[in-house]
Amino acid sequence: MTGDQQIARINAIWKRIVDDMKIVVRDFEITQDELHAAGDYFNRLGTAGYCRSLFDVALAMTSVDVTGGSRKGTRQNLEGPYHRPHPDRGNGTLFEGGSPAGMPPLSISGTVRDAETKQPLPGARLDFWQADSNGIYDRQGTHLRGVVTADADGRYELHTVLPSDYSEHDHDPIGELFRAMGKHNTRAAHIHLKASVDDRVVLTTQIFMPTSTFLETDYVEGAVSPDLVVKLNGDETGYTGTFDLLLDRQGVAA
Ligand SMILES: [Fe+2]
Repeated sequence: MTGDQQIARINAIWKRIVDDMKIVVRDFEITQDELHAAGDYFNRLGTAGYCRSLFDVALAMTSVDVTGGSRKGTRQNLEGPYHRPHPDRGNGTLFEGGSPAGMPPLSISGTVRDAETKQPLPGARLDFWQADSNGIYDRQGTHLRGVVTADADGRYELHTVLPSDYSEHDHDPIGELFRAMGKHNTRAAHIHLKASVDDRVVLTTQIFMPTSTFLETDYVEGAVSPDLVVKLNGDETGYTGTFDLLLDRQGVAA
């Protein structure tokens, strides 16, 4: 995009935003006091560092869907804020040390294939990260984070613990907004995944757990879809499941 095109795009987007917000002000007869209260809210949101999160909550899935265009294969999903470089996990075990006490073990296996040819993709790198069974992410270390590589047949195995639903905005302006609307701010239990082929990320998505009680009401609108819910067997003593991946190597991951 040239500099002139960039300027035209910014102008067009700003005009559309203001024009559409004028409609909201007219339709809801919003007062100047209410405008100022909204401004104060955005000041709090920015000071707390959660502007990105609000855009993610409200608009990331729409962006994923519209920029995904004609992509084939496993559906994309939002990346979320917690990805960072992760170690290789040769045996597919994501936890560090022994299996975490009091957390149901979970094993997922599957085949990674090309979405176009349906051929297996040996060497595809699957970068996973997740919350634990208490809904907590390791934000400093690499517990429940790691990269698993598909074998010569395109097969992978993941050994971890069952992630739980989590509410992480109880004490920040995102939670304040949701409470004002009478809504919860809980995410349905999921495992994040970035898949790479030949050192290029071709898919960013989330695999949802059928054990979640928030699949229908995940506060990130549009995130959960039935094709991204893994089918699990077992109970609190341990779960197993299969999740095959179809990677569109032509498309660009959102
Ligand atoms: Fe997450």
